[in-house]
Amino acid sequence: MRVEAYERVFMILAVLVLLFGIVGIGIGALAAGVHVPSPAGRIDPRTLSTTPPFDQPGLRRTGENQYEAVVVARAWQFQPNEIEVPAGSTVTFLLASPDVIHGFVLAGTNANVMVIPGQIARVTARFERPGEYVWMCHEYCGFGHHQMFGKVVVR
Ligand code: CUA
Repeated sequence: MRVEAYERVFMILAVLVLLFGIVGIGIGALAAGVHVPSPAGRIDPRTLSTTPPFDQPGLRRTGENQYEAVVVARAWQFQPNEIEVPAGSTVTFLLASPDVIHGFVLAGTNANVMVIPGQIARVTARFERPGEYVWMCHEYCGFGHHQMFGKVVVR
């Protein structure tokens, strides 16, 4: 079968684009640790308010410039809805919902997870510069969805 030179160039380009994509995904997944968010654990949404660590939401220091923020996402607020950390901090957020599906997206970072009843969501963000980083619920969760937001104040 005879293939036109012009057509051959496009066939080769198409294969190269696919190969670049596959190699890119491979490097991201295997070398750079990029992955789809998956549940960090299970929790019964009915007993969320009495199950550690969600019985005491808030910020805890876990090491030098390391923090853990336990946040409850419920219709229609985050608890707590503000945390404060020094610049250079790494914050691991643990999120859970006692009611419906919520979301958590933190502006200026690549933190972006779903908060699904029954699951614990975990996402980590590093804050190099002082400022205010707003987070919000990005999954429509009902009447008060637009009121679900909070912020990280970095000093
Ligand atoms: Cu919670 Cu939208």
